[in-house]
Amino acid sequence: MQGVSKDYAVQMHGITKYFGPLRVLDDVNLDIKKGEIHAILGENGAGKSTLMNILYGMYNPDYGKIYLNGQETYIGKPSAAISQGIGMVHQHFMLVDKFTVLQNIVLGNETTDFFGVLNMRKARKKVIEIIKKYGMKVDLKEKVKNLSVGMQQKVEILKALYRGAEVLILDEPTAVLTPMEVDELLETMQNLKKDGKTIIIITHKLKEIKKSAETCTIIRKGQFIDRVNVADETEQSLAEKMVGRQIKLFVDKKEMTPGDTIFEIQNLSVRCERGIETVKNLSMKIRGGEIYGLAGIEGNGQTELLQCILGRRYADSGKIIMHGKEIQNTNTRNVLDSKISFIHADRHKYGCILDMSVADNVIMEKYREKPFSVNGFLNHEERDKFTKQIIETYDVRPAKCRHQKIRNLSGGNQQKLVIGREIANNPDLLIAVQPTRGLDVGAIEFVHRMLVNLRDQGKAVLLISLELDEILNLSDKIAVIYGGEIVGEFDQKEADEHKVGLLMAGGKGE
Ligand SMILES: Nc1ncnc2c1ncn2[C@@H]1O[C@H](COP(=O)(O)OP(=O)(O)O)[C@@H](O)[C@H]1O
Ligand SMILES: [Mg+2]
Repeated sequence: MQGVSKDYAVQMHGITKYFGPLRVLDDVNLDIKKGEIHAILGENGAGKSTLMNILYGMYNPDYGKIYLNGQETYIGKPSAAISQGIGMVHQHFMLVDKFTVLQNIVLGNETTDFFGVLNMRKARKKVIEIIKKYGMKVDLKEKVKNLSVGMQQKVEILKALYRGAEVLILDEPTAVLTPMEVDELLETMQNLKKDGKTIIIITHKLKEIKKSAETCTIIRKGQFIDRVNVADETEQSLAEKMVGRQIKLFVDKKEMTPGDTIFEIQNLSVRCERGIETVKNLSMKIRGGEIYGLAGIEGNGQTELLQCILGRRYADSGKIIMHGKEIQNTNTRNVLDSKISFIHADRHKYGCILDMSVADNVIMEKYREKPFSVNGFLNHEERDKFTKQIIETYDVRPAKCRHQKIRNLSGGNQQKLVIGREIANNPDLLIAVQPTRGLDVGAIEFVHRMLVNLRDQGKAVLLISLELDEILNLSDKIAVIYGGEIVGEFDQKEADEHKVGLLMAGGKGE
């Protein structure tokens, strides 16, 4: 804990917070100098979002004090945080789809003239000034529903700046971005810093902390662990402080012993909504005991390919073959019945139903089957037994979460449940799409180990990821998709970041 001083934009001392009986934060300290980029590092469920939600007035702490610029203050609600110069971009955005970018930025803080009439022209001028000042690229007229996630995030940042944020909190901002968007964000952060803004960034990505932050606070299981100068730390030392044990940042796996081809795609062509052929004459073969990594930048046909495999989109031509049987143009039920399981990139949209309990989510696909259903009635005991088993095997925290809404779990723990559920289906092919998106290193290590275990059992894994590091690290075979085509295929040994990255960007190999 640092002494209270006006050199610090934010100081939070002795913060303790309970959710019911659960102590989520226990005497946590945070000290952030003015004009600094400060990272908050901690595993999933460590309490990072809760701490920041307290600063943003979404929650009140049970104990502890908050000082802004050396003055003790009471925040209590977001509007009070905003009026004291604190802005926050949440993990899940809060924009209105139907409105334009400008409308979203202005919403809730409308500039009115004398007669209370909304002055959009003035608002627009102010927004344009901010955009220019920080070198952001945004189209104010576009509707939010047409924007990429990266763009939506810019709108959220603009919204906070428009409201006069001097301290900007970014809650895992890079989890949903492509590598190029990440670089852009890091640049925007530097521009904000140059202008004297204070930035708090929550991220699990050690590389990004090293690249952007000057100081970092580490919390573990709701407790303050350390406040460090980033320059004095390595990725490894940061990771170990975060999880409290030694950790492997690289996947440990033995030489593969490939079996027969389990899954095959032959000359597949698929069109997107607009009728454009976004998967072109694509072929691949995945053997048992093999992790097949598909690298590519978002929007190169991955979505349509997946939808087609899942039976949600028609193939114009070509075949999808599982265990020698054609499954293209059937339906999702049939695909799952052929022993394929999916881990979706967007676990909130497809992976689970947020307002259902953990237990109900775990048996979501199976509740009609034995032993969960008996004469049309749900067998609660069997459901709970099965759920308990998954919670234990996959170290889901908190361990007694069976009857909680899955919404209340952190992203990493939600993902562990989804993965546990899918692996429990005993698939012969697991399709994992961005399986570690938004997870911290501890959880990533765990998920990777699960995929490698499955491969070591002779199963096939199709890994689709935008994280090139993850693909290179984990896959036995690496293919690159660009413009809907496979433009290169490598064994792990021959692949490197440069070769694969070049193909991903549409360059020619060698
Ligand atoms: N509204 C809530 N009600 C009950 N428990 C919550 C709520 N929000 C978060 N939690 C719990 O508090 C802990 C910390 O969560 P969070 O601050 O979101 O962690 P982090 O952002 O570090 O991943 C987790 O165990 C989570 O399940
Ligand atoms: Mg969080």
